[in-house]
Amino acid sequence: MIIEPRTRGFICLTSHPTGCEQNVINQIEYVKSKGKIEGAKKVLVLGASTGFGLASRITSAFGSDAATIGVFFDKPATEGRPGSPGYYNTAAFEKHAHKAGLYAKSINGDAFSNEIKEQVVNLIKEDLGQVDLVIYSLASPVRKHPNTGKRFKSVLKPIGEVFTNKTVDFHTGNVSEISINPAEGDDIANTVTVMGGEDWKMWMDALQAENLLSEGATTVAYSYIGPEVTKPVYRNGTIGAAKDDLEKTAFEITDDLKSINGNAYVSVNKALVTQASSAIPVIPLYISLLFKVMKEKGIHEGCIEQIERLYSERLFGGDLALDDKGRIRIDDWEMREDVQAEIAELWKKATTENLSELGDLEGYSNEFFNLFGFKVAGVDYDADVNEMVSIPSEQ
Ligand code: NAD
Ligand code: NA
Repeated sequence: MIIEPRTRGFICLTSHPTGCEQNVINQIEYVKSKGKIEGAKKVLVLGASTGFGLASRITSAFGSDAATIGVFFDKPATEGRPGSPGYYNTAAFEKHAHKAGLYAKSINGDAFSNEIKEQVVNLIKEDLGQVDLVIYSLASPVRKHPNTGKRFKSVLKPIGEVFTNKTVDFHTGNVSEISINPAEGDDIANTVTVMGGEDWKMWMDALQAENLLSEGATTVAYSYIGPEVTKPVYRNGTIGAAKDDLEKTAFEITDDLKSINGNAYVSVNKALVTQASSAIPVIPLYISLLFKVMKEKGIHEGCIEQIERLYSERLFGGDLALDDKGRIRIDDWEMREDVQAEIAELWKKATTENLSELGDLEGYSNEFFNLFGFKVAGVDYDADVNEMVSIPSEQ
């Protein structure tokens, strides 16, 4: 079939298998171009199909020749209806990993559930024995709690008062003011339940209980801080409460891992266009200005550049360079004073009329479509493509 992008608000309903594969190939080539990383050899990635998790899986596999198990929640195609990008990404990843002689298996299902944890535990027992790195990169709006069956929804709201600021509709370039009502009822607690550290700890408990973590094993979860302008809706909002909880959980997990000399870290990453971040008001305007400034300074990075640097310079580079809260800061270039000062100036000026010059709206929009395998250089979108791609290890 011929597959074209079909968008509805912040989501794209279709995705392109050839474009997704090209994205994966580009990431693999980038990692290979940077040379070998003396890193972990047996790696479990939770949230492995898109964004930072996919980049982590690719960096482990092609930077350190690691065997990887990837867990994610994605839709395969049905006749005439493309699968989700994470599905195509993983099919492509496995294909190229296997071609390179690397072990790669995937489990598609709800990582919050006991069933999926059990499946992963059994797979590690059968195939790898133990793992030495666990990447926790889930981003989900909902979580069904495994103990109670209760469904929790996370929300992106400020805490305490209404937040009013600028935002952009990146499809039209329209800059407008948006007001977001503060959290009410159980909003904060629910968001912490979905995006906080409880599930990360449950995973590590399940792995440790079965002796599936090797001596000195490391686990890393991803967080975000960001600038002043997004603080009320991000870091000081409901999602920030969840990130505080996640960051606190790192210390608890490190305590739990004492007997094997293991460590749990949070890495604070850069703001990037992913499916998750496109849905947060105000953030797309910030990202379009951020990209403009960072590209001009020659320090722009995407997911793969971020994670390759995280691995080669921090995790396996001998210097974690932890901040005063014990976090790895791979958002260091985003948070540079000169970068933030320029964005603050541009922020005041940005309007519908001038944003295409002040900001990198085109870059934002392109990266959004790239997430779904569209507008990827070198892909012939007029060519007939078979949508019924499957993940090799799932066959
Ligand atoms: P993403 O949406 O690209 O990836 C999320 C992954 O989680 C996908 O593989 C998806 O399949 C998987 N997933 C979601 N729900 C699942 C479930 N129930 N069971 C199994 N898998 C599930 O997200 P991302 O932007 O890469 O975010 C990953 C982490 O990085 C998050 O903690 C996020 O807060 C953090 N982070 C993101 C940004 C950013 O700008 N996007 C910046 C810094 C940190
Ligand atoms: Na991810």
